[in-house]
Amino acid sequence: MATPIVPVSPRVRVRVPAKINLALVVGAPRGDGYHPLASVFQAVSLCDEVTATLVDSDEITLAMTGEGAEELPVDERNLAYRAAALLRDTFVPDEGLGVQLEIRKGIPVAGGMAGGSADAAAALLACSVLWDVDADPDELHELGAELGSDVPFALLGGLALGTGRGEQLVPCLSRGRYHWVVVLSDEGLSTPAVFRRYDQLGLAARTLEPPAGMLAALAAGDPRALAATLRNDLQAAALDLRPDLADTLDAGREAGALAGIVSGSGPTCAFLAADESDAVDVAGRLTAAGVGRLVRVVAGPVPGARIVG
Ligand code: C5P
Repeated sequence: MATPIVPVSPRVRVRVPAKINLALVVGAPRGDGYHPLASVFQAVSLCDEVTATLVDSDEITLAMTGEGAEELPVDERNLAYRAAALLRDTFVPDEGLGVQLEIRKGIPVAGGMAGGSADAAAALLACSVLWDVDADPDELHELGAELGSDVPFALLGGLALGTGRGEQLVPCLSRGRYHWVVVLSDEGLSTPAVFRRYDQLGLAARTLEPPAGMLAALAAGDPRALAATLRNDLQAAALDLRPDLADTLDAGREAGALAGIVSGSGPTCAFLAADESDAVDVAGRLTAAGVGRLVRVVAGPVPGARIVG
């Protein structure tokens, strides 16, 4: 009997989440310029969607729509494009494969929520299925780390402790669901610029560990205890570059959030609420007060990059 031919799906759609750093403890730069970190990542329900469609040529093309898409390049400067090219060069260099990538952005661009890394993670997963690449999750993780420090977490999702430059991950126990209000800003902040200012301010942490009590609060599912332990070492550098963010942080606390923090290298600010209904109230007050460009309610943890169609 002839072996049945299993058709390769000509189109794969992947959803991928943004992240919030609940803790970002940052040391002095290493020899390669990167900063050693202890980062507690939570994936949240603000997502991009990447659709990969098989094409008849060996071309990689990219189109983007949605939140801030017009600001982004659609050639090899785009991390999602580079992800597809790296996957092909590593696993299937001689098969003449190409792809049309379409990215629908919901994650703010240059917002400190790893939107570019999320797209790279989604492109890796989508193209590996589309091209029927024989790569296991560890191999995708390794390629992800080559593309950017936050790409491996976008593949993994959930809650994890990141060390090294953020790419070495250990999943952590998390109970319950945490409700956040994120306030997006008009203009992005450059991650390298924020790290440089951090160095200039001489703020390097000596001990690279998550804040005391944070992992216990997450394991217990206690948002109030978690709120007391949120820590972002890059916040001072982001506020130095964007003093207006201090007003945003004040506004969130006044609106009833348990705590507020700059997300990653900013300028997005994330406010933890006691529960979903409090998050909706806080978001309503911030919107009414005209704080930021856009206010969104999100929840975490959510899964990492996953196929949805
Ligand atoms: O790894 P990724 O390309 O996402 O990092 C973007 C920039 O952020 C790096 O070029 C570097 O300037 C800075 N960075 C850092 N230390 C890290 C992660 C990122 O200095 N651990």
